[in-house]
Amino acid sequence: MPQPWEDIFGPLRKGAIDDLVLVGQCGQSIDARVATPTGHSHYINSEAGLAHLHRLRALVDAVVIGVGTAIADDPQLTVRRVEGPNPARIVVDPNGRLPSSARVLAADGVRRLVVTAAGAPGKLPAGVEIVPVAANDRELAPTAIVAALSARGFRRILIEGGADTVSRFLAARCLDRLHVLIAPIIIGGGRSSLTLPPIARVEEAVRAPMRAHSLGGDVLLDCDLSAQRLPIGRAKMST
Ligand SMILES: NC(=O)c1ccc[n+]([C@@H]2O[C@H](COP(=O)([O-])OP(=O)(O)OC[C@H]3O[C@@H](n4cnc5c(N)ncnc54)[C@H](OP(=O)(O)O)[C@@H]3O)[C@@H](O)[C@H]2O)c1
Repeated sequence: MPQPWEDIFGPLRKGAIDDLVLVGQCGQSIDARVATPTGHSHYINSEAGLAHLHRLRALVDAVVIGVGTAIADDPQLTVRRVEGPNPARIVVDPNGRLPSSARVLAADGVRRLVVTAAGAPGKLPAGVEIVPVAANDRELAPTAIVAALSARGFRRILIEGGADTVSRFLAARCLDRLHVLIAPIIIGGGRSSLTLPPIARVEEAVRAPMRAHSLGGDVLLDCDLSAQRLPIGRAKMST
């Protein structure tokens, strides 16, 4: 891989903790907003930033979004800005809110899955796989979601958004890496990027080795979260 691609994508080749690679991404403004108060977010990032997101999609087996994003943006989650295969599309929809007309569910040859609280799937088009995960106080444990996706053959998984979904995976220590793509804009209000349960002291914060890359007008922060990632998949074979 030529530079800078090796620096950015090389760490996604193999899991450091187990056989899975889980990467979260957030596209945000300087003031850490992912959308305006009306939910408008197209597009915060530059062309180069959006190409980066499509490159990530092309490198993973599956892309996961929350039902909030599926309803607000109705994304296709396909690879269009770069060459590469389309990943499987997965929506976390505990309460069966996803309309069957959602574009992520379109039958185009890739696997489409909906992760739902056991017993709560809505009406979904033929061919969509339902992944039941037990709810605990309205939350589907991210570890249980990852284990269920691993059991269905997915190894490299991109948690693409929104911020609520990525935050849940981060808080549950289910990310190997986090790609934060910062655009040179200040939105001033609206939906916040990552939000975790509050802590009292700075030394309790998640601290991650980080590298910065320039992507067009955007800055990509690539954070290595492997030190806090819980093992979920198959243990790595010792060499
Ligand atoms: N800039 C970016 O990179 C970016 C990317 C994506 C989206 N967005 C923007 O972000 C906004 C939507 O994001 P969002 O944060 O509100 O929503 P989201 O993360 O897409 O979806 C959140 C919802 O997904 C469900 N969910 C996800 N994980 C869950 C879990 N582990 N357990 C239980 N439920 C889970 C819940 O559904 P229920 O509500 O049914 O409980 C939750 O309310 C839109 O305005 C969109 O434009 C920006």
